[in-house]
Amino acid sequence: MNAAPALAQSADPRRALTVLGVETSCDDTAAAVARLHADGRVEVLSDETARQYDAHAPFGGIVPEIAARAHAELLDTIVARALDAAGLGLEDLDAVAATAGPGLVGGVMVGLMTAKGLAMGAGLPLVAVNHLEGHALSPRLTEPVDFPYLILLVSGGHSQLLLVRDVGDYVRYGSTIDDAAGEAFDKTAKVLGLKLPGGPALERLAAQGDPDRFDLPRPLKGAAHCDFSFAGLKTATVRAYESLGPEPSDQDRADLAASFQAAVAEVLADRTRNAIARAAADGARALAVVGGVAANATVRAALRAAADEAGLSFLAPPLKWCTDNGAMIALAGAELLRRGRVAPLDVAARPRWPLDQAAAAAKPAIGGGRKGAKA
Ligand code: KG4
Ligand code: ZN
Repeated sequence: MNAAPALAQSADPRRALTVLGVETSCDDTAAAVARLHADGRVEVLSDETARQYDAHAPFGGIVPEIAARAHAELLDTIVARALDAAGLGLEDLDAVAATAGPGLVGGVMVGLMTAKGLAMGAGLPLVAVNHLEGHALSPRLTEPVDFPYLILLVSGGHSQLLLVRDVGDYVRYGSTIDDAAGEAFDKTAKVLGLKLPGGPALERLAAQGDPDRFDLPRPLKGAAHCDFSFAGLKTATVRAYESLGPEPSDQDRADLAASFQAAVAEVLADRTRNAIARAAADGARALAVVGGVAANATVRAALRAAADEAGLSFLAPPLKWCTDNGAMIALAGAELLRRGRVAPLDVAARPRWPLDQAAAAAKPAIGGGRKGAKA
């Protein structure tokens, strides 16, 4: 099996490219049609997502086998809806793109196999998209951001600071050395007795709380590099919760949620300031925050402040494109297609697939292209 995208003849650069994108790497079943114009403008013609929260709720976390089965049940309908909403048939497309990793491999295989079937049946090229590249390019769904730009990618499986030099050209400045930011949100939410999805539930609870009530640690704050750590903060939050006794009040819980959220936002902004200095020297003029945790308003505000201080413009995709979605995969697929990067039909799903070449050569590290660490 050859996992590397094959180089094929590039699509005509003067023509708009219309691509179906399929995303199944975690617990969202998504498909969308996007059109990439020759001038870089993007039109999202449709965007369908089915979330699987209810299927996983009884288990308090995402169960890979259940996710894969749910994708298998939902995906055909979601793809049909995406094509219908765009008013297009397969014959109107230039390619079918699917997330080929990193992610929960059973789910990735469902999406990739479906895309292979569609591509083969319709005689279209297949594009194998790195899920992280989808997130990295997602700011361009709404504006034609110039390369290079800095991204903070913070999701359930990843926390990374990356310089996006071009499509397919990434430099990783730093990543988490333990938990991903979203994972820390989800695990803390569970301790606070909140239902899935943990991050948004914690944010709602925190809105009623006092962020200064609990003095929680700021791991790695002030360190010269751009790496993150959240495990110590998570443990400190659990201890603080236990110190509240067997029945904490709603106000106690809200104060702890707010204090935790403030600590995460402060640490993310601190680490990102280091990356901003490096990225500005490398020519970046914009900071974008992407991934599910980018939906958090406190996190966004802290990062906007860091960008403002440095004179960088600040971008955050609309909330529906912060979390996993098909539109970002369709766009990444169109950009790759434009560069001739289509995949062979035997391309394999990749549970681990770092975006930057240096990390691809290095030993596996949590947050370095692994996904599915949610519990
Ligand atoms: O990008 P995403 O949809 O999936 C992955 O690629 O992991 O990110 C999901 C993560 C989950 O951990 C979720 O709790 C977190 O993003 N998240 C949030 C918020 N919305 C989603 N975390 C904090 N505040 C939010 N509003
Ligand atoms: Zn994601």
